[in-house]
Order: sequence, then C-alpha cells, then structure tokens
Amino acid sequence: MGASEATVVASAPGKCILFGEHAVVYGQPAVAVAIEQRLTVSLAPAPSWSVDGSALNAAKHPHIVHLRNRFLGEDASPMAVHIQGDIPRASGLGSSASLSAAIGAAMAHLRKADAPMTNDELSEAAHAAEAAAQLGRASPMDTSTSVEGGVVVLSDQREEVGEWAYSRTLTTPEGERRWEVHRIDPPGDDVYLVLGNTGVHAPTSKQVAMVAQALASNPERMREIQAIGTVARRGLAALVSGDYEAVGHAMSENHLLLRGLGVSSDALEELIQAALPTSLGVKLTGGGGGGCMVALTRHPKHTSEAIELAGGRTLVSKLGNEGVRLELH
Ligand code: PMV
Repeated sequence: MGASEATVVASAPGKCILFGEHAVVYGQPAVAVAIEQRLTVSLAPAPSWSVDGSALNAAKHPHIVHLRNRFLGEDASPMAVHIQGDIPRASGLGSSASLSAAIGAAMAHLRKADAPMTNDELSEAAHAAEAAAQLGRASPMDTSTSVEGGVVVLSDQREEVGEWAYSRTLTTPEGERRWEVHRIDPPGDDVYLVLGNTGVHAPTSKQVAMVAQALASNPERMREIQAIGTVARRGLAALVSGDYEAVGHAMSENHLLLRGLGVSSDALEELIQAALPTSLGVKLTGGGGGGCMVALTRHPKHTSEAIELAGGRTLVSKLGNEGVRLELH
C-alpha cells in the first residue's frame, strides 16, 4: 500500500455554549452549537510517532496517546500526526474536544476501514480521552457537540425536546455522573454567531470551583442555578421553533444570571456592551472570567467590527455546522 493510500484525514468542529454553562454542572440543561471553525488532523505512516514534527509525548499529547492506545494499541505502526485549523486554543471553544473527535475518527477508520464507528462510540471514546487528560473531570458537552455537529442539549434528565441520542456516564473524583445527550435541528434562518475573544485565559476549573464555593457559603443561591435552567429551557424552545428574537432574549437573560453568579469579567462586559446594539442577544460563553462572549446577530459584519473596536478578536459562524467527518482515506 502506498503512503498516500494509507494517509487518513479527519476534521471536527469546535463548539460554543448558547445556554446553561455552570448550571449544567448541577444538572440543568445546556445547549451547545457546533461552529464553523474546525480542526483537521492527518495521520500518515512514519518511522516514529510524532505530532507536528515533535515526538509523541503522553504529557504533552494525552488525548492522542489515549486514543492511540485504545484504537490501535501501544505497539501500532507509527504515524506522523499533523494538526491544523482555526479554533483558538484554551479559549472555551472546544479545541481539545475537536482534536479528540477528529483523531478518534481517523484512528477508528484505520483500525476498521470497512466498519465505521457510530457517533455514540466515537463520542464515548473522545469523552474518555478528555476525562483522562483532565484528572477524571469532563462533561461530554464539547466532545458530543464536536462529534454530532448541529445543536446538542445536555441534561441530567431526558428533555422533551429534539431527539434523545444517548447517555454518557463518567466516574469522577466526586462520584458517578450521568448525562443525557440530545440533538435538535432548529429551522434555518439568516442568523450568525459572532464570537469575541477577550484573549484572557481563565481556567474553567477555577471558575467552576468559584461557583461551588459561592453555593456552599450560601445554599439559597441554588435558585440562581435553577433560574439559568429555566432560561435555558425557554431558549431551547425558541430555538426549536426558529424564533431567533426569543433565542436572543434568552441569551441576554442567561448572561445577566451568569454575571450575578460572578463569572463575568470587565473585559467580557466591554465586548458584550459593544455587541448589544447590533445583536439579538449577547452573553459570555463557557466558563467565563475571560475567554469568549457570543452574540447572535443578523449583522455579523457590524457586530464583529464593534467587538474588534472594543479590543476583542472575533470569529463568525453560522449555526448548525457538520460534526466529525473523514476527509480523505
Ligand atoms: O469553558 P468551557 O467551554 O469548557 O465550558 C465550561 C462549561 C461549564 O459549565 C462552566 C463547566 C462544565 O464542565 O460544564
């Protein structure tokens, strides 16, 4: 077999959370969409394992080593891995999950070229790789969205919306966790997401710990978490019916609740204020404290310019992008 025949290329999208971050940690529903920006990986036979020219290293590339050991085995013939794409790293847009999804799809194909993996198996493998790389703590939101594409809803119960896809479980240091994963297929419209990156790195684990601390010192504040769940369900219903004005309202309402919870930041607030006049709704997305905000808009160019003028770096994406796919094999 020639080298070109043995090269496998796969890609997977990043994600952005439209509703429910932080509250999802306490069982409320969260809604994530696959964005246009993707990571593409290629695997080609080589004399030794490498990633973009450096030797494969379990500390530096835990997801790749985990998926290699699972799909191909530690003694598999070595491959050179190349990664390219336009998802900024460590900004809450799911770059590591899209890497896991794309590498997983490519390796699963190499192992069993004539029996492609189901999305369920692939999202389970990518989630396990994320969890292994993050001390046993990872919600399946990023990996499921990257594998499925479109719009994904995660909750601790089956929601009366869209199509239930599968359950995900994980043994974490805090005990057994279980999530129900659903797909929804909102009607198309001329709306866009503009993502504004503050460029400030705030680790999600720190933000999650801060919310846990706030709830421990004042259990009454669980009402704020429940309120986020209520808004997320309202936003979800609006999304399913294609009422994007109502989706935008729910996003802005969700942001006010997140701000009240203490997970926004001055830099995020500046970008959000800048985007508001041209948007249907605006909120922080992901862990907060830095990272990205997201605006839902019919005027992506204007919204993007306003965010850039306020100092943010922007990405524009339509809604409902394709999930993981093999590009070349
Ligand atoms: O920062 P991101 O995009 O990884 O999102 C974190 C979402 C949280 O709800 C804050 C945490 C979680 O594990 O769900």
